[in-house]
Amino acid sequence: MKILITGGLGFVGSNLVEYLLKYKNIKKIIIVDNFSSSSIQYIEKFTKYKFFKSYNHYKKSISKVEIIKANINNFNIAKKITKNIDCIIHLAAESGIDKSITDPLNAFNVNVVGTFNYLEAARINKVKQFILASSGAVFGNQKPPFKEIYERNPISPYGSSKLTAETFCQTYGMTFKIQTTILRFSNAYGKYSKHKNSVIAKFINNIINSKQIVINGNGKITRDYIYVEDICSAIYKCLQNKKKSTIYHVSTNKETSLNDLIKKIEHTFNIILNSPLQIKKKYGKNRLGDMKSNSQSNNKIKKEMNWSPKTNLNQGLLKTLEWFILN
Ligand SMILES: NC(=O)c1ccc[n+]([C@@H]2O[C@H](COP(=O)([O-])OP(=O)(O)OC[C@H]3O[C@@H](n4cnc5c(N)ncnc54)[C@H](O)[C@@H]3O)[C@@H](O)[C@H]2O)c1
Repeated sequence: MKILITGGLGFVGSNLVEYLLKYKNIKKIIIVDNFSSSSIQYIEKFTKYKFFKSYNHYKKSISKVEIIKANINNFNIAKKITKNIDCIIHLAAESGIDKSITDPLNAFNVNVVGTFNYLEAARINKVKQFILASSGAVFGNQKPPFKEIYERNPISPYGSSKLTAETFCQTYGMTFKIQTTILRFSNAYGKYSKHKNSVIAKFINNIINSKQIVINGNGKITRDYIYVEDICSAIYKCLQNKKKSTIYHVSTNKETSLNDLIKKIEHTFNIILNSPLQIKKKYGKNRLGDMKSNSQSNNKIKKEMNWSPKTNLNQGLLKTLEWFILN
């Protein structure tokens, strides 16, 4: 199987490449990434690769992993690079809710136009499967846990951009017979996330650097934290699945408040350092675009794909913290 991963150098992408390399049926992985929020720093830790600094330099190689520095907003590159690909896993995105609020146009261009480019390229080149990384942010404020069929009312440009990308996927699935799989990840954490501004990565980075952590609001908002390797196993299961186009929630179905998360992080640091650690923290204002809760029901993917998350939050935090401390 020949896979193209957009955004393959990012947090989920680097973990996914490492995960997929274990499987013999994955013959080639082509990564398209513009290095806007990441770099080769993670991938170079676990595999050899062939790097092309632009599409103009690209030549087919025997290397199992090829990395092309390119912007997903370039449709001509999308059209050329998706020839003879079996599946596109579309991860590239502007993934920050806060950044989508300060620069909605960029979120739209990357998340909507960029997704459209790769869907349209998939149609032209008859790529059989397209997997979209989406998010629980499409739901806005609703009663958790969200089911796939719930009404979607995004409260951030990021959520809107993901919802728009989803509708294009569904339309392409129905109209052009591309198998589109929309995976709505809950809040991911794990190794290769040092560059991220997401809550667990940010808190750990700050604590390691003896900086204060700032909690937006009263700490009662809840999230559904999923260990990144569980996301990778869900993606791999979907790659094997040749069923109709569909949507799945890749989540744990469990809610943890920010206050409880901090206690767990503190406890995990204490285990690793074998001495008590006092986290410096302060409470700030609620952040625009932040949902009160983001917990997703994973019943559908459990039932239809026989997938379930394997790592609980305590185990995942331990592995994540060990990685952050060593790196
Ligand atoms: N991490 C999470 O908790 C989470 C939750 C829900 C959904 N998602 C989605 O999963 C996907 C991966 O997220 P992540 O956490 O790995 O993010 P990330 O920021 O670590 O990775 C995104 C990658 O896309 C690349 N990229 C950005 N704009 C690009 C462009 N215009 N052209 C080419 N490459 C570009 C970046 O350089 C980066 O390597 C995203 O679509 C995100 O919205 C993530």
